[in-house]
Amino acid sequence: MLTLGCKLNLADSDSIASRLAGAGFDVTGHLCEADGYVLNTCSVTHVADRKSRRLIRSVRRLAPAAQIVVTGCFPRAAGAEAAAALGADLVVGTSPADHDAVAEHLARRCRRDQPAHRDPDRLPGVLRTRGFVKAQEGCNDVCAFCIVPRTRGSERSRSVAEVTADVTAAAEAGAREVVIPGTQLGAWGRDLPETLQPADLVAGILERSEIPRIRFSSLQPQDITPRLLALWRDPRLMPHFHLALQSGSDQVLAAMRRRYTAGEFAAAAGRIAAVVPGAAITTDVIVGFPGESEADFAATLALCTEVGFARIHAFPYSVRSRTAAARLPGQVSPAVKRERMDRILALGEVLADGFGSMFLGTVRPVLWEETAAGPGGAEWAGYTDNYLRVRAPGADLLNRITPARLVAQEGGLIAAEVAA
Ligand code: F3S
Repeated sequence: MLTLGCKLNLADSDSIASRLAGAGFDVTGHLCEADGYVLNTCSVTHVADRKSRRLIRSVRRLAPAAQIVVTGCFPRAAGAEAAAALGADLVVGTSPADHDAVAEHLARRCRRDQPAHRDPDRLPGVLRTRGFVKAQEGCNDVCAFCIVPRTRGSERSRSVAEVTADVTAAAEAGAREVVIPGTQLGAWGRDLPETLQPADLVAGILERSEIPRIRFSSLQPQDITPRLLALWRDPRLMPHFHLALQSGSDQVLAAMRRRYTAGEFAAAAGRIAAVVPGAAITTDVIVGFPGESEADFAATLALCTEVGFARIHAFPYSVRSRTAAARLPGQVSPAVKRERMDRILALGEVLADGFGSMFLGTVRPVLWEETAAGPGGAEWAGYTDNYLRVRAPGADLLNRITPARLVAQEGGLIAAEVAA
């Protein structure tokens, strides 16, 4: 099972992987010799599209006789025929019924008696330290740049009971942390029979599950309500909020058809900082949206600095056909996009270092997820509650949550010592 794209795709891959494991398959997340491949694709930018095409084509070349199932956003954007032409035997969507169909198809077509490869550390959805459980799918907004409403359809929320059942299954399979993604998580509940809000979902997961760490993924500024933030008094909710800014210029935000202004975004960040001290706020920024002037971009840099993001994911604007922005005047040249990308990436590094340095000398809980190379040999790496990547020497720490003292910043990672 190979996964491109966002946390929604990771959640879908987890869901497919647990069905395959239940059907007796040996599932791995690495490219290796296998009887069947599930390729979970993305189409958010040109680059993602190209990667998805390349992945399908190369797996078909590598394994001419294997069964290849393609899911995710690429076939929704480019057409199922395009995926079939590249080598897919089966093309499916992203619903639970589609996930069932993947397992049924592979169960009919593949052997399960002689697993080609065993990879017990990284079985998606089976033995991972962090599980991904989708709470919501689809989007009714019409952001001018975005292809996702076309690939994921209109908003559909999963019930608290469905989400909690998957959270419990992830915990029973060994995960100590669960990430709850959605295409538009702030819209969760609007389409359910009894109209609910994201705070009801979070409260429900806290009440009905026992998993020690819950990371509630992407939200928008208008979703950051006092009622929602009050739930973060529970230490099982990780102090980490992902709010996609996209631009710090009101003019560009309006052209993008985002539903907030730069001032409203800054106010939401302020509400988080006031109620959840030490919280990481991470973001996405699109650089070079049509019409973005130097002054607009400077406003983005200024807002990023004001908020003090813990991490910035920056992307150059990529024209997606059949989106409103593709027809907008004032397309920004590739050279200007590149130059602005360099500047925002540099600022992102400075802000990430600044955020990390605030916690040097403090003790934070860390979920240890894998081994990493350290100066004195192999060490353990993981994330703090507030999403700082740390490493520390120690005996077997895999999948344990321990307090760790953060000691020094070293090249994007923080060196830590496991505290007694
Ligand atoms: Fe990509 Fe679809 Fe996610 S386009 S970013 S996999 S919603």
